[in-house]
Amino acid sequence: MKAIILAAGMGTRLRPLTHTRPKPTIRVAGRPIIHYAVENIVAAGIREIGVVVSPATRDDVQASLNGYAGVDIEYILQEKPQGLAHALSTARDWLADSPFVMYLGDNLFENGIVPFVEKFNADNPQALVALAAVKDPRQFGVAVVQDGRIVRLVEKPQDPPSNLAVAGIYVFTDAIHEVVAGLEPSGRGEYEITDAIQGLIGRGARVEGLTVEGWWKDTGKAEDLLDANRLLLSGIEPQVAGQVLDSRLVGRVVVEDGAVVRESTIIGPALIAAGSLVENAFVGPFTAIGPKAEVRDSEVEYSIVADRAVIKDVATRLQECVIGVGARVESRRGLPRAHRLVLGDESRVEIG
Ligand code: TTP
Repeated sequence: MKAIILAAGMGTRLRPLTHTRPKPTIRVAGRPIIHYAVENIVAAGIREIGVVVSPATRDDVQASLNGYAGVDIEYILQEKPQGLAHALSTARDWLADSPFVMYLGDNLFENGIVPFVEKFNADNPQALVALAAVKDPRQFGVAVVQDGRIVRLVEKPQDPPSNLAVAGIYVFTDAIHEVVAGLEPSGRGEYEITDAIQGLIGRGARVEGLTVEGWWKDTGKAEDLLDANRLLLSGIEPQVAGQVLDSRLVGRVVVEDGAVVRESTIIGPALIAAGSLVENAFVGPFTAIGPKAEVRDSEVEYSIVADRAVIKDVATRLQECVIGVGARVESRRGLPRAHRLVLGDESRVEIG
């Protein structure tokens, strides 16, 4: 079996972070999202992985996955992100007649993909789709299931026929390629994977659903990144490899090698990555401080602070923040007491 990871999206809902880097390369709980995907695929015994990238995402995705030992990664170019089924079609030659897993590169699954691959191998359907019961299914593909078989799929319905959302893992035989080849773009101009699977059902193929065990997170928006960060940090094992001086560490706290924590309080779960500095600061629960970042004379909780970002002298606690690579948040002492902001396109600032 092979696997493709889709990483060619625009990530419009995550701007401005995605102006400069692809969503699957953003760090959550210290690691790029796409690393969790590769790890889950490898854990399912799959060694041949195709990563679908766009001209805009190719270099960063490739750099993020460089040096991933023991895996054979092929990069497949999707010139324009025209939908999930279109992404699949770009991988057709590489996939040849192999059955394969299709994994959305911005999705996270607590318990990986082994149950999906096992069920696919045991039941031999033409397609197996991961499903998750959600409160508001209108933003997802929605499935109608009868006796374990999916009988109907609709994309982002206004009036959902069930609460079962299509989560970001699919397992297919090569039968999907013919249906994808005959697809027309949907009303929103994309080649929809739900239409392709509906096409399979229409041809009498057996399409099964399997409910995701444990949590599943589609990291479309900043709130989702923070929630995924919370969920992943909740499972970390405490470990202090860096320097901790005159500080208090409570609960699950990781201080990586080369990090310095001085005169600070860290309440876990929290991750202080390699090379970062936390000084005279409070780092609260569910916070990941990225490599070479600095938090000085400030308080931050329930946040992601990316590589090389700096938070300095901020009087009010920062909460629910996603601070991008190299971004700076600092107070300017003295008069005038004013906010001075240099923000990238589509940035968001909420001043309390
Ligand atoms: P989406 O979340 O549907 O799209 P997106 O990542 O571009 O984000 P937004 O809607 O905010 O613009 O995509 C899910 C995953 O699939 C994501 O990792 C990107 C990938 N993808 C492709 O590889 N090719 C495509 O044509 C599309 C639409 C998505």
